[in-house]
Amino acid sequence: MKVDEFLVERWMNQYEHDVKYNLAETCVDPFTLAEFLDFVGRPDFFEEFQHKQLTYGYIEGNPLLREGIADLYADVNPKNVLVTGGAIEANFNSFYSLVEPGDTVICVAPTYQQLFSVPKGFGANIKILDLKPENRWLPDLEQLKEHVDNKTKMIVLNNPNNPCGSLIDEPTLRAICDLAEDVSAYVHSDEAYRGLYIDSKSKVPSVVDIYDKGIAVGSFSKPFSLTGLRLGWITANEETVCQFMLRRDYTTISKSMLDEALAAEAMPHIEKILERNNKIVRENWKMLDDWISKEPLLDWIRPTAGSVAFIEHHIDMKASELCLKLIKEKSTFLVPGNCFNHSQYLRIGYGNNKKLLSDGLEQVSDYLENI
Ligand SMILES: Cc1ncc(COP(=O)(O)O)c(C=O)c1O
Repeated sequence: MKVDEFLVERWMNQYEHDVKYNLAETCVDPFTLAEFLDFVGRPDFFEEFQHKQLTYGYIEGNPLLREGIADLYADVNPKNVLVTGGAIEANFNSFYSLVEPGDTVICVAPTYQQLFSVPKGFGANIKILDLKPENRWLPDLEQLKEHVDNKTKMIVLNNPNNPCGSLIDEPTLRAICDLAEDVSAYVHSDEAYRGLYIDSKSKVPSVVDIYDKGIAVGSFSKPFSLTGLRLGWITANEETVCQFMLRRDYTTISKSMLDEALAAEAMPHIEKILERNNKIVRENWKMLDDWISKEPLLDWIRPTAGSVAFIEHHIDMKASELCLKLIKEKSTFLVPGNCFNHSQYLRIGYGNNKKLLSDGLEQVSDYLENI
């Protein structure tokens, strides 16, 4: 399998640990272990866990954890949930299980590159469903209709979207599923940022609750602030989950018992965690909105969900060059839109600690003033 270089991961890996102001982070202010155990009222967790034998644990995932994950949906049975190594393994598992050479896979872009590069690597013909700023970074149903054909195996969405922070609303999501149903295609939706909404009234159901061939991917990294556990999940109908299990046996066996036990502790407190994190992203969103309105060289389509935004810059250089200058001169780290094939844009994460975000934005302002 040939696969393209994963541009955003290469960029993050190269610079993120050597800068003072990391504004590229997509997670919402991750907990320390001590903070987390205190937050869920389990300071005695390790005292109990240390006596457990470290076996493989449960192949599909800790039952309490799968139950808690199933509860995040309207109509999902815990036996249709598989715990994975982050959303990234869940995405991979779905493409590995379902995509064959010659299939058509339609994928939104810009998005997390894995969502089209991996199906391409498995031999699919990729058709891009363009998300454009003039359409508020949302899919165009007319273009989708033109793309769908009888070889369409899968439509891939990312809802909320990384890097744009756009959210496909329920009527549009249903219309996409209807088009998929016409040709019996799957709708794979990477919902790693689900649960973070700028306006609490804009909640959207998961694809798995509205379409039988819907596949939903979730993550503990972003809205739950447990990034270091490296856990996520995938859920779909029973037949599809059997396909996932067949492949997953070759890549995973099971996830870490300890990580899963910690994640299970979070499940009864998810509402409280989401409350903490929505407060962070909403306050930071406001700070960012005020800041952009005062920066003549920057613009944005306001994100409506998630913890990332795509900022347009009106500077006569590629975003990658601008980002390198910001690293070198201001120790401030952003992701250039080049990683998403949009060199006039910068991706920023706004789930960070407020002070870090504010200090980092000041550094960018300083740089832009003297450009
Ligand atoms: C859209 C999207 N999907 C998946 C992932 C991977 O997430 P995880 O940490 O759960 O593997 C990311 C990480 O940035 C992402 O932005």
